[in-house]
Amino acid sequence: MQTLTTIADLRQQIHAWSQQGERIALVPTMGNLHTGHLQLVEAAKQHADRVLVSVFVNPLQFGDASGGDFERYPRTFEADRQKLVESGADLLFFPSQEEMYPAGVENVTRVEVPGISDILCGKFRPGHFVGVATVVAKFLNMVQPDVAVFGEKDFQQLLVIRRLAAELCFPVEIVGVPTVREVDGLAMSSRNQYLSAEERQRAAALYRTLQAAKERLVSGETDMAAIESDAEKILREAGFCPEYFTVCRADDLQPAAAADTALVILAAAWLGEARLIDNIQLQR
Ligand code: PAF
Repeated sequence: MQTLTTIADLRQQIHAWSQQGERIALVPTMGNLHTGHLQLVEAAKQHADRVLVSVFVNPLQFGDASGGDFERYPRTFEADRQKLVESGADLLFFPSQEEMYPAGVENVTRVEVPGISDILCGKFRPGHFVGVATVVAKFLNMVQPDVAVFGEKDFQQLLVIRRLAAELCFPVEIVGVPTVREVDGLAMSSRNQYLSAEERQRAAALYRTLQAAKERLVSGETDMAAIESDAEKILREAGFCPEYFTVCRADDLQPAAAADTALVILAAAWLGEARLIDNIQLQR
């Protein structure tokens, strides 16, 4: 597996692959790779001849109110590189901040997907999805992949990216990969390592609460407000500080009405120092 750090070298390699008629898949990451990321690489291999993984901790998506989240985000390059070699990725792109944002983070041209970026996580993390949309648009332009692969754990992010790709006419297929979970149901996330051992024991309550809400919806209940407030109460009792727990339409994340059939339940909650997010999709 090659490791490249400049856009010029990246483009040269991609040009060579394209000349040979090879399909290219892009897996953007911020590193600190776990089994969930490696599942993205596996999915990418199913869709393309060459798999390119980017590792870039994107300062633009952390925001001023992140309370040092950008600085403390784990940087584990050597371990990441090793995991990618073993996963069969073809290329690791590891650009510096200067390579990505030569005019400085403050001055970068930004991409905004309005509406969907301002609700749920966007409401609690202002500017977050502008940062995500901007860096993903840059990667899509640099690589011009046939396919780009993202995890469904970040369900809102996936919808933001689908919309940006469609509206900016990127000729790319966006593939979503189901969330990979620990044995007790906790969604795998780089942020799980901020949990203490005792919090880690309690953390799977988030997924159990989502499952309980799903069962109520599948069995025909339509009082969304009751489902949401019961869930928030359960989470508080389990020691979480919920930001939101909400039943939405799966296609646009607007509040679900009784007649809607394709739904997603999304939750974000703090447990100690860790902000956990998770979701479950359902059809009824
Ligand atoms: O999901 C992530 O790790 C990041 O938000 C992404 C898509 C790599 C953009 O920085």
